[in-house]
Amino acid sequence: MIIGVPKEIMHDENRVAATPETIKKFVADGHTMLVEKGAGAGAFFMDAAYAEAGAEIVDDVRDIYNRADLILKVKEPLFNEKYGMHEVDMMKRGQYLITFIHPASPVNHEMVKKMAANGIIGLTLDGIPRISRAQNMDALTSMSTCAGYRGIVMAAEKLAKFIPNIFCAVGSIKPAKVMVIGVGVAGLQALATAKRLGAVVYAADIRSAAREQAQSLGAKVVDLGIPDEVSVAAGGYANAITGEWLEKEREALRPVIKDMDIVFLSALVPGRLAPVMVTEDMVKSMAPGSVIVDIAIDQGGNCEITTPGDTEVKHGVTIFGVKNIPGFLPTSSTWMFAHNVYNLTKHLTHDGKIVLDMNDPIDASILVTDGEKLVHKGAMEAMGLL
Ligand code: NAI
Repeated sequence: MIIGVPKEIMHDENRVAATPETIKKFVADGHTMLVEKGAGAGAFFMDAAYAEAGAEIVDDVRDIYNRADLILKVKEPLFNEKYGMHEVDMMKRGQYLITFIHPASPVNHEMVKKMAANGIIGLTLDGIPRISRAQNMDALTSMSTCAGYRGIVMAAEKLAKFIPNIFCAVGSIKPAKVMVIGVGVAGLQALATAKRLGAVVYAADIRSAAREQAQSLGAKVVDLGIPDEVSVAAGGYANAITGEWLEKEREALRPVIKDMDIVFLSALVPGRLAPVMVTEDMVKSMAPGSVIVDIAIDQGGNCEITTPGDTEVKHGVTIFGVKNIPGFLPTSSTWMFAHNVYNLTKHLTHDGKIVLDMNDPIDASILVTDGEKLVHKGAMEAMGLL
């Protein structure tokens, strides 16, 4: 196949879908690789390294879209200001696209319809099922790992205190207290990072399996008083808890949160708005100079007063509502992402071409548009088409 790697055009997006290392693997598999000039510079992967790995460096991205059978990207197609054209309109009929499409998100509905109309075969990375066989293709998990680590580093940098226990000539300084709410992939990484920095770590989650994992990392677990029958859905994932149960959770967290230096919020329910368990009152109860990192912000946020996409000080507490935290770790996040995309492409490729097998849960759950129409159930439900 001819495989194209455009430079990402979203503002401040430094990641790219391939590294020189994955280019080498694709070339060894017999593919022709086209990389847009400067595509990896934001993540410190330079054109010379791509060329040395066997890629053709292409000046005008429209050449890539004209020639490639498959396009690899990080973000969903967007309007390209430089060429005055939407990326979907640069693509050609029958072309494959692998990227995060987030097709159910209302902001992407028009774009996804356009993909269907333009005959593109869109494969979304957010659809990769959580099964063992798909783990090395799971870019969402990779990015959660980045967000967990980098989110704590951001908070540590903002905190006006030491994180570890410090002994000095005038006495001893107590270690910082860090609480993680929602200990999935990102939360566990945040816990481990805070612990490595020397914090005393606390954790809360509505699933007992997640609480056990947090405990094994040395966290003090806060009892939310919610039984698994209420909080755990089929397949072991979280249920969206509401009403009285959510109120019970807030009451359990209230006395703990007021003593925390850093609160890391990563509680999510797949495909739903994030639960809000940190209220404005709870923020007010925290000491001035404390920090909240709300990485659930893409799905609405876990804190009532987080500003989406921004960092603000409210009631003396710095609240990070930054989106795209993995973009602040561009070399590592690109390295992980590029390997996930390579592994997925390899899984989909048979005799040098992509052949989708709708009996395979991986292929079936990532397909968004099949070259003729929209087929993604979540997106169709969100558009009111089902
Ligand atoms: P996620 O990002 O969907 O949710 C994060 C955490 O928030 C979950 O642990 C969830 O229980 C918790 N949560 C939801 N509502 C909450 C509330 N009201 N209060 C407190 N916490 C709440 O989860 P993620 O990171 O995708 O992982 C979920 C599970 O899936 C983990 O146990 C992980 O090990 C597993 N997993 C398995 C994969 C595979 O086998 N390929 C890949 C990714 C995750």
